[in-house]
Amino acid sequence: IERTFSILKPDATERNLTGAINAVIEKAGLRIVAQKRIRMTQEQAETFYAVHKERPFFGELVSFMISAPVVVQVLEGDNAIAKYREVMGATDPAKAADGTIRKLYAKSVGENSVHGSDAAETAAQEIAQFFSGNEIVG
Ligand code: GTP
Ligand code: MG
Repeated sequence: IERTFSILKPDATERNLTGAINAVIEKAGLRIVAQKRIRMTQEQAETFYAVHKERPFFGELVSFMISAPVVVQVLEGDNAIAKYREVMGATDPAKAADGTIRKLYAKSVGENSVHGSDAAETAAQEIAQFFSGNEIVG
């Protein structure tokens, strides 16, 4: 059993897609073991996406992430990290496979509805940035 960190991004919460996206997540066999709706601060967004700070889209990415509430989640399941990346689909919705969250709902490569951790180490770091141990109920 494995855990991954997920964010339902501002374009998703703005369009009332929390429930629709959660349905796709649960149907894929992932269990939502922690979840909260928050307004990210600029500092939290900059820390979270620090790996991209030299990229030309960094400023746009940070402003987008703080533009409306997000839902942060911990998902649990067998191979949760890889499974959730598969369920999310490619970063660019135009390249995402049918049935994936980004194919179904993403607006663009920037406003792409969801985030999911890309490896075990980043999953642990990202979960720890937003959740304390007693908020995760498996
Ligand atoms: P995350 O799960 O959000 O990390 O997406 P990813 O792993 O599929 O993509 P990556 O880590 O390469 O990029 C992180 C995020 O930066 C993406 O999800 C997009 O929201 C944003 N992003 C990536 N490329 C672009 C771009 O060309 N323009 C803009 N505006 N945003 C981008
Ligand atoms: Mg990424």
